[in-house]
Amino acid sequence: MRSNRRRLAALAALVTVFGCSSAASEPMVGAPGIGDPDFPKDGNGGYDVAHYDVAIDYTPAGKRLVGVTTIRAAATQDLSAFNLDLAGLNVHAITVDGASATFSRQGDELTVRPAGTIADDAVFSVKVSYSGVPKPIKDAGSLGTYGFMPTGDGAFVAAEPNGAKTWFPSNDHPADKATFDFTITVPAGVTALANGEMAGRPACSGGKTTYRWRERHPMVTYLATATLGKFELREGRTPGGIPNLAAADPRFKSSLDSLYKTSAEVTDHWATVFGPYPFGSTGGVIDDFAAGYALENQTKPLYGGFHPDESIIAHELAHQWFGNSLSIKLWKDLWLNEGFATYAEWLWAEHKGRKTAQATFDDYAKRPADDPMWAYPPGRARPHDLFSQSVYVRGAMTLHALRKAVGDQTFFALVRTWAADHRYGHVTTDQFIELAERMSGKELGALFDAWLFQPRKPS
Ligand code: ARG
Ligand code: ZN
Repeated sequence: MRSNRRRLAALAALVTVFGCSSAASEPMVGAPGIGDPDFPKDGNGGYDVAHYDVAIDYTPAGKRLVGVTTIRAAATQDLSAFNLDLAGLNVHAITVDGASATFSRQGDELTVRPAGTIADDAVFSVKVSYSGVPKPIKDAGSLGTYGFMPTGDGAFVAAEPNGAKTWFPSNDHPADKATFDFTITVPAGVTALANGEMAGRPACSGGKTTYRWRERHPMVTYLATATLGKFELREGRTPGGIPNLAAADPRFKSSLDSLYKTSAEVTDHWATVFGPYPFGSTGGVIDDFAAGYALENQTKPLYGGFHPDESIIAHELAHQWFGNSLSIKLWKDLWLNEGFATYAEWLWAEHKGRKTAQATFDDYAKRPADDPMWAYPPGRARPHDLFSQSVYVRGAMTLHALRKAVGDQTFFALVRTWAADHRYGHVTTDQFIELAERMSGKELGALFDAWLFQPRKPS
């Protein structure tokens, strides 16, 4: 589900003419990257995924995963071969439209050669059978550990930015969104929590339980989860009527009720501020795994080994609008996710009468000119330091500076229009600046430049 594919294809054609890419000799081979210069191997070119059907059987004792992932995609060029992203794991067989295909692997690139060429625009289906012990990605920089992470009783699955490939073959970049079905088989007693809603009751047989989950709204690959383990559950609806599911590892049982209630209150409140909730359910999962962060997994934010407070719940649920419904095309625009979610924390404190957003802004504005936050322009997130404080806090300060410049009425109308216009789609920083200028009737270039793009403290 990609809107910029024609442009990317045109770009690829240019490269073939003026450069010496491998595509020159084999023009029908899909590119090994989707076109994000900061993450050149992430995602792939030549097709656009519509749906993933991810079926896994996981045994916590041996940490072994047996998977069959079926991908329905549309070709965006003629394809004699195309790539998927997959890290580790053994591939046993691949079929394309039911016919066996050959494949080869190099690093995290899995190249598939179907028996015949797939024509441009054709819809095709790829089925990959694989197994092995998933290995999370350990980034030496600020990304930390992410992907499919084994825990004592199951797995903690948080894959931002590019760890979906640690557990299923995918077009692993946010520029390609798709719907998902999950079929997850685990030993009896283990609960499987994936995105969206349950599709039928869990089926038990031979000491195993199979859970089916369906995310019927478009989702980026890094938000896909199959978090597994022993969980206490609380289920119902928010006062506003949205299905709500909270889950906590027994060690975090004391936070289950507050997670359930706060998630409900926050979801309903954000719906009045940002516009209708974009997905079929809300909630959250607390697992006993010290990831050191939370992730806004679609419909089921995941909290890693701590008792989440209202502020972080407000943050992860704001991401359901900003990051999940509206997704970035390029990682450099990450402030559109994190700046908005951080500003939502400030708005939550303001809503609760604890602290105004202005007071929070003023506290950060006191930081001296040589504070590292001012040297890092948040409008250009860096691949090895994506989750920098600047992207979060200075991103949020940008929104507050905008709010002051255009006034509350225009600012909140802008935020709602932004969320409505790009619901389930993709966004760029330029689009946001354009909309802000259009709705305010003001020239805002200097404000955004100072806050997002200059390596110094705005005056
Ligand atoms: N998007 C998450 C949040 O702001 C943070 C993800 C961190 N991921 C990582 N690999 N460290 O809540
Ligand atoms: Zn965030």
